Formats: sequence, structure tokens, C-alpha cells
Amino acid sequence: MRQSIAHPAGAGDGRPVAVVTGASEGFGRELASRIARDGYDLVIVARNRARLAELAAQLEGEHGAGVEVQSFDLTRPGQQLALAELVRAQPNLKLLVNNAAFSVVGEFAALATEKLQQMASLNFTAVCALSQAALQNADFCRGGTVLNVGSIGGTYPMPLDATYSATKAALDIFSKALAYEVAHDHTRDVKVQVAKLGGLNTAWNDRTMGPMREGAQPDRRMEAVRNEPAAAADAIWRQCKARKRSILYDCRRVRVQQAVFSLLPRLGSRLVYTFYSEECRRRG
Ligand SMILES: NC(=O)c1ccc[n+]([C@@H]2O[C@H](COP(=O)([O-])OP(=O)(O)OC[C@H]3O[C@@H](n4cnc5c(N)ncnc54)[C@H](OP(=O)(O)O)[C@@H]3O)[C@@H](O)[C@H]2O)c1
Repeated sequence: MRQSIAHPAGAGDGRPVAVVTGASEGFGRELASRIARDGYDLVIVARNRARLAELAAQLEGEHGAGVEVQSFDLTRPGQQLALAELVRAQPNLKLLVNNAAFSVVGEFAALATEKLQQMASLNFTAVCALSQAALQNADFCRGGTVLNVGSIGGTYPMPLDATYSATKAALDIFSKALAYEVAHDHTRDVKVQVAKLGGLNTAWNDRTMGPMREGAQPDRRMEAVRNEPAAAADAIWRQCKARKRSILYDCRRVRVQQAVFSLLPRLGSRLVYTFYSEECRRRG
């Protein structure tokens, strides 16, 4: 059995605990701070230990939360299992947020095969291992929630981002199937939710397509529809803690876009292809 998380005021025993992957930046970081504000202690996970330590100090100072930093590369099966072991043994675990993900945008045939394998491993396999570990944790089975961070890009085909789109489609159907399964399981009080996010104003585009070329102008239309990660985290956290729904959207625009693109996948895919082709030309 793991120890309770060390607490700044020495009074952490009994507080609910959340494990959040991909908490070092972007949406995961914003969500972690809302979870801490609402009285949870946290285990925050990513590769960049320095960024996690900085966030831990912030959450301890601002919200009095106990925060444990865990640096794992979740593309690696051995590190997924090590984190799963920690999740299984975590006292008072009530929330697991599977948020860490990455993509590489470009012509499929030209992408590095190893990157595609790592993407499938992080975006989907790690989620299965950690979700299963949570369902094997007795404290979690009394009121726990799995929140899987998906994408509307998993609900219609995304050319030039095919593998990412497929991992998020797998995450989507996995989350819905598991949500139904646990709803029938009267030995557990567990909810499984999937958040369908649209374009966010994070470092995602720089990470997936590289930084802007010098002198290139960003696409103003795309910038206008991108949601701020803080606003997305507010909306998703509000719905997550209500535990009423299994599918969460961060704003109405994303919900409408998902409905239209799912009904008209050829139109959606053409728009995505055009956007990514132009964006890749603006970047390295
Ligand atoms: N941004 C968008 O437009 C968008 C749209 C729809 C859905 N989403 C989804 O929203 C979630 C968050 O996206 P974001 O925009 O906030 O992404 P982001 O800014 O790129 O942050 C990704 C997070 O995942 C962590 N991470 C990446 N690779 C990892 C690895 N191998 N092992 C462990 N952690 C790893 C990163 O930390 P380290 O680098 O320190 O490891 C970081 O904390 C993702 O699931 C994404 O698919 C994003």
C-alpha cells in the first residue's frame, strides 16, 4: 500500500486524490489547478520533471494541496506499468485523468514508424493500462471517475493526422464501452467519461507541426475558433465533477462541429486536409 500524499499543512489524510497525466502544460495543467482548487491532492505526471515541480509548488501555495510529482515517459510499456502499479495502490484515489497525448502531422507514408507506434502507445495503450489499474483500486471503486481526454478529431477521419485520429477514435469507443460496462456493475460506483475537445490555444500545433517559419503569418480564421485551455478546463471540470454525463464538450462550437463533421465526413476531411497542408507550409 502506498503512503498518503505528503501535505503542506500535514492534514492530507482523507482528502480525495486525483492522478493527472500530461499535467506539465496545456489543458492538463489548467485542469490540475481546478482539481486542486476543489480540495483534491494530486499526483501529476509527465516527462518534464522541472515543469511538474514548478506546478506542484504553485498548487501547494495557492490551494494548500498535497502534490506528488511523477516523471514517466508513457510511450514506454514498462513505465505505463510502473504508473499503473502506483494508481492501483493509491489511497483515496477518486479521479484518474488520462490526458497525455501527442501527434505528428504529415503525409502518412513519410512519417517515422517508431513515432506512430509511440503515439498509439501513449494515446491509447497507456489509457487502458491506467484505467484498468483504477478499477482494481478499492477506494476508487467507491465513487471514482475516469476522465479520458479525447478529441473531436476522433469522431471523423483526419487526413495528414490519420494515426492520431484513429487513436482518439479508439479512446472514444473504449470510453463509451467502459462507461456502459461499469454502469451495469453494481459492485462498483465508478463513472467513465470522455471529453471531446476541439482546437485549443496550447503549444500543440508547434509540437505536432513544428514552429512557424520566420515571417509566416498565422491563419487568423483558425486562431479565431481556437478555445483557450483555461476556458476548456473550466467547462470540462464543471461537467466532470457533476458525474452526470459520460460525454463532455468544452463548448457549443465543438459540439456543433462534431455533429456536422460526423454527418458530412468528406466535407470535414477536406477542410482538415486543406488546413493541415497550408499549416505545414507555414511551418518547418
Ligand atoms: N490542443 C488541441 O488543439 C487539442 C484538440 C483536441 C484534443 N486535444 C487533446 O487534449 C489533450 C491535451 O492537449 P494539449 O493541447 O494540452 O497538449 P500539450 O500542450 O502538447 O501537452 C501535452 C501534455 O502531455 C505530456 N506528454 C507528452 N508526451 C508524453 C509522454 N511520452 N509521457 C508522458 N507525458 C507526455 C506533456 O508533458 P511532457 O512533454 O513534459 O511529457 C504535456 O504535459 C490531449 O489528449 C490532446 O489529444 C488537444
